[in-house]
Amino acid sequence: MAIRPLLGHNAQLLPEPPLSDFARTLIRWQKSHGRHDLPWQGTRDPYRIWLSEIMLQQTQVGTVIPYYERFLARFPTLAALAAASEQEVLSLWSGLGYYARGRNLLRAARLVMDSHGGVFPRDPQAIARLPGVGRSTAAAIAAFAFGARAAILDGNVKRVLTRAFGIEGFPGDKAVEARLWRLAESLLPERDVEAYTQGLMDLGATVCSRTRPDCLRCPLAASCVARREGRTAELPAPRPKRARPRRRTTVLVLHRDGHVLVVRRPAPGIWGGLLGLPELPEGEAAAPFALRAFGCTVASVRDLAPLRHGFTHFDLELRPLLCEVANAAPALHESGPVWLKVSEHGSAPLPAPVRKLLQGLNVQASPAPAVRLP
Ligand code: ADE
Repeated sequence: MAIRPLLGHNAQLLPEPPLSDFARTLIRWQKSHGRHDLPWQGTRDPYRIWLSEIMLQQTQVGTVIPYYERFLARFPTLAALAAASEQEVLSLWSGLGYYARGRNLLRAARLVMDSHGGVFPRDPQAIARLPGVGRSTAAAIAAFAFGARAAILDGNVKRVLTRAFGIEGFPGDKAVEARLWRLAESLLPERDVEAYTQGLMDLGATVCSRTRPDCLRCPLAASCVARREGRTAELPAPRPKRARPRRRTTVLVLHRDGHVLVVRRPAPGIWGGLLGLPELPEGEAAAPFALRAFGCTVASVRDLAPLRHGFTHFDLELRPLLCEVANAAPALHESGPVWLKVSEHGSAPLPAPVRKLLQGLNVQASPAPAVRLP
């Protein structure tokens, strides 16, 4: 067991508080292999640490460094920042992205000046109440600035923990996230919280990467569940894919003498401006609708095989009804439906599934009553 010398006139040797294997291994690794020269390290100034942690949300270290340095050169203290205009803050933030971070930073600086007497709060929960600071960022600030024992859980740490402990389920899921928070808290060491916290960040960013974890360099490899089970590519579990919504619509294939009736589709809307098959309003019967809408007397109706088409946000299923037309009104209006010769479907502006349907339609081409091709 490690012995910690206690200095004082009654000096004695006391045992150091025990650390979990996980924490001890990580702390030792951070001290010898972690990052030590980042511009926000080697300071206890909560303003600088806070600024760095906000900039490092969703942004990589290499991108942040020049922004951090420029920002500090212009606003060396929290008081200087609080006196700035939003325009000035945002122009220094320009190119870093996620501009709400810059606006929240300014709001928080003013709040610290107005409600905390200009003194940055020490308590992680008070820090977490500042605009733009969540629980994990607050813990990182409290650990680095004040040595507080507070657990972090950002995306990198979630990846390290799910792999090291074989935690199943998508980490963004509420129950999985709650479990990870409990685990992160249970692992917190009694001492060296700064090295431990930095170690988790360093390991996640430099070794336990998302796509190519470098397990040969990982200090936790011997006990890592994902490595033992060959599941580093599966953990953390990805966000579950939402079932894509499916829309169904019945379309009429009004067929007469080698022609089908097509209508110009309204824009905006799917396939806007293309020619499509008329849609049968829900609950209507095909024959009366065809007569009322297009003047077609329908002799027979039969189902054709459904057609499916995937859009970005949903799948569409077209259910075609083949209607053999006995009689059609002779004249069709200029902007309205047209009789399209089935054999000429290749040159008409049709959506892919409709073109496919017409291709498969076994029709004998013969002259139609009123032909007006688009
Ligand atoms: N990502 C978030 N906080 C960080 C820090 N303090 N050092 C390096 N990367 C980080």
